[in-house]
Amino acid sequence: MKVLVTGGCGYIGAHTIVDLINHGFDVVSVDSNIRSTTQLLDGIEKITGKKIHNYKVDLCNLEDTHAVFHENRDIVGVIHFAALKTVPESVAEPLLYFHNNLTSLVNILKCIQEFKIPNFVFSSSCSVYGNATALPVVEETPLGEAQSPYARTKQIGEQIIQDYNKVNDTQSIILRYFNPVGAHPSALIGELPLGKPDNLVPMITQTAIGKRPKMIVFGHDYDTRDGSCIRDYIHVMDIANAHTRALQYLLDKKNKANLETFNLGTGNGVTVLEAINAFEKISGVKLNYELGPRRPGDVIAIYANNSLAKSRLGWEPKIGIEDMMRTAWQWEVSLRDKVLSN
Ligand code: NAD
Ligand code: WQD
Repeated sequence: MKVLVTGGCGYIGAHTIVDLINHGFDVVSVDSNIRSTTQLLDGIEKITGKKIHNYKVDLCNLEDTHAVFHENRDIVGVIHFAALKTVPESVAEPLLYFHNNLTSLVNILKCIQEFKIPNFVFSSSCSVYGNATALPVVEETPLGEAQSPYARTKQIGEQIIQDYNKVNDTQSIILRYFNPVGAHPSALIGELPLGKPDNLVPMITQTAIGKRPKMIVFGHDYDTRDGSCIRDYIHVMDIANAHTRALQYLLDKKNKANLETFNLGTGNGVTVLEAINAFEKISGVKLNYELGPRRPGDVIAIYANNSLAKSRLGWEPKIGIEDMMRTAWQWEVSLRDKVLSN
């Protein structure tokens, strides 16, 4: 069975392709490489022995997107990862984010409608909850004020899918990821942030390897157990496996609602300082960090109630914070070794 993955050259898309192949699916990818190269496709081939075809197509171009669907009429579903995802960039360039993330989604849905593709999975984000006050968040938690244009594209994207699904037969699943981190245990694929990372884990590994002189812990006087913010870090292979299960769930069509939404987190809140301690423990590296001021726009604490994904999809996140850090570190080390051997 063939699946079309958009954003297959990116971080989560690439890890999901590996899991899909391991579960017997064939995959084609569409990625314009606006935020990636084809490097991760080489890693996927080394891990799985399968060469993935990527259509280098901008999904904002309907004609080109249509041509991909025309050539792949036999796909059983689409997993739509492709999007821009950098929060500060979205604040600086909101129209870029609205254009890219929403036009691409509308174009994909137009093609799904025309080619009668039965199944659709969409990448959403815990950022749709805004500043949630009741923790852990459940899927019914009312969506708060979006804290960035990026988060707003996810809120609007979810609404577009809801309205589309009211009048179409497509079965859809929206997956709200919390904080995906880590890398495939082979260290052949992982996260490739462009420029200075905003996210915590690449900042930790890049500081530890010496790419950055030091890092700042944003805020140490929050009302949490150690004063730093709390997040629900989840291993990217656990996220990947949830997509395979979501697709299998949709393919096994008994009594399904036509649109369901699931939180993908571990359910465990981890502070920034706890994440750093876990990193130092598994790597043996003393991290050069300073306690600094709060980062504007940060929520103090957020973590998931993941019961729905567990019970409906039969999914269970398996990887703990130390192995999240271990695989992220092995990936960073492998990137350095590759540079040194060239
Ligand atoms: P990524 O940047 O590594 O991958 C996204 C890929 O989409 C890139 O390869 C990029 O080139 C491609 N792309 C973007 N716009 C495109 C377009 N118009 N046409 C074709 N290709 C396009 O990001 P990721 O971390 O793998 O994220 C995947 C999805 O998960 C995104 O929708 C993101 O918003 C969502 N998400 C990510 C996180 C996270 O922390 N990584 C958290 C929650 C949700
Ligand atoms: C985590 C914690 C920082 C860097 C973002 C997006 C969200 C989602 C996931 C896509 C926070 C702290 C960070 C640093 C630090 N992405 N930190 N020093 O902000 O939870 O979520 O990524 O959908 O939409 O907003 O993740 O990794 O940036 O931060 O202290 O150098 O680490 O303050 O408490 P965040 P993050």
